[in-house]
This record gives sequence, C-alpha cells and structure tokens, in this order.
Amino acid sequence: MKFKRIYLGKPWCEAIELDDGQQLIARPMRSNDGPTLRRSFARLTPEEVRMRFMHPLKELTPAYAKKLASIDRKREFALVLVENKPPELALIGAVARAAIESDADRAEFAIIVGAEIARFGLGSYLLKRVIEWARKKRLSELYGRVLFDNKAMLALAHRLGFKRRLSEEEEEIVEVFLPLNRKRSA
Ligand SMILES: CC(C)(COP(=O)(O)OP(=O)(O)OC[C@H]1O[C@@H](n2cnc3c(N)ncnc32)[C@H](O)[C@@H]1OP(=O)(O)O)[C@@H](O)C(=O)NCCC(=O)NCCS
Repeated sequence: MKFKRIYLGKPWCEAIELDDGQQLIARPMRSNDGPTLRRSFARLTPEEVRMRFMHPLKELTPAYAKKLASIDRKREFALVLVENKPPELALIGAVARAAIESDADRAEFAIIVGAEIARFGLGSYLLKRVIEWARKKRLSELYGRVLFDNKAMLALAHRLGFKRRLSEEEEEIVEVFLPLNRKRSA
C-alpha cells in the first residue's frame, strides 16, 4: 500500500494521501457527479476505456454520465476517488461500483483507476471496500466480468482471493468471483 488514509467521519469517506503527495477524497458517488464524470472520462486512454466498458467509447454522453451517477442505494454501491481540489477543478480519478442482480443474491462489480493514480494500491483498496459493502448486504457472491487479456485486473482479483470461471455467453470474458459464504437475511 503506497498511501495513507484518514477516516472523515462519514460512511465510506476517507482522505487519502499517496506517497507521491497526490491528495484524494474517497466518497460515495453523488447524483450530481455526472458532469465531473464526463470531464474525468476525457483523461482516460482508449485501452483503459476498453478494459472497463468492454468496448470502445469515445465520450460519456450527458445521459450516460447521469445514469452512472444515479445510484439506487438499496441495490447499488459506487465509490469515487476525487482529487482534493475546489469542486470546479477536481476530477474523479477512480470509480468502483457494484449492483445486485434482480432476483439474485449476488452483485456484479466494475472498477477503474486512472493512470495518474494507478499502482498505488487503490484498485485493491476500492475492491476491498466493495467486498465490505457486499458482505454488509449479506450477498453470497461478488463477481466481475474481465476481458481475458486484462492482466492487471486478473492479477488484482487473484490477490484478493477471487477465483475464475469462463463466461457462458461471452468467449472473450473471464468472470472473477468471490464466494462470500453468507446468506441474505429474509
Ligand atoms: C486494473 C486496475 C483497476 C488496477 O488498479 P491499481 O490501482 O493500479 O491496482 P493496485 O495498485 O491496487 O494493484 C494491485 C495488484 O494488481 C496487480 N496489477 C495492477 N496493475 C497491474 C498491471 N498494470 N500489470 C500487472 N499487474 C498489475 C498487481 O498484482 C498489483 O500489486 P503490486 O502493485 O503489488 O504488484 C487499473 O489498472 C484499471 O483501472 N484498469 C483499467 C480498467 C479495468 O481494467 N477495469 C477492470 C474491469 S472490472
């Protein structure tokens, strides 16, 4: 872990200082984060976008950004790492999200950490927080769909105990899954 973190007194909110001095705030996604998500998306490389969204995407449309920022807290979770700067300048450097599937007790996660703040341990930090959320929701499994050539994500998931299975429907996808061994209460 190449950062320090301080709890800010609100659920999921922490101040993070990377070893190179960059300062970030971890907090839940807000419904008005759409425009910031759009500005932040512009910084991503096509390869990062392909790995996260599984297909090329040139920009986030306002409607799609709004959808990504709208979280139904009963069944969804999204945490962002935002630069510790005035709101009009601050970009979102990383996002981790998960959604419980309808009629299921499992959730799918997705994560992206921008190159400026990659390899500090933040991907692991975010995925651990998603696991914490999934355990609190008493889900039986957390899983993610990962492109078969995404070595970074496959290595990260492996280090956190995820196992792999082939996707039944998509041949270029590997599913990484973590059994949580908890049944949801009625
Ligand atoms: C995959 C991703 C989330 C990793 O984020 P990160 O903050 O750099 O990850 P961490 O610093 O926590 O790395 C944890 C471990 O993952 C592995 N890892 C991370 N990046 C790696 C890379 N580029 N190459 C090989 N292994 C890598 C390493 O084992 C690493 O541990 P180490 O640094 O001690 O060697 C980030 O590269 C990313 O957002 N990629 C594009 C989007 C994506 O692939 N999303 C996944 C879709 S679900």
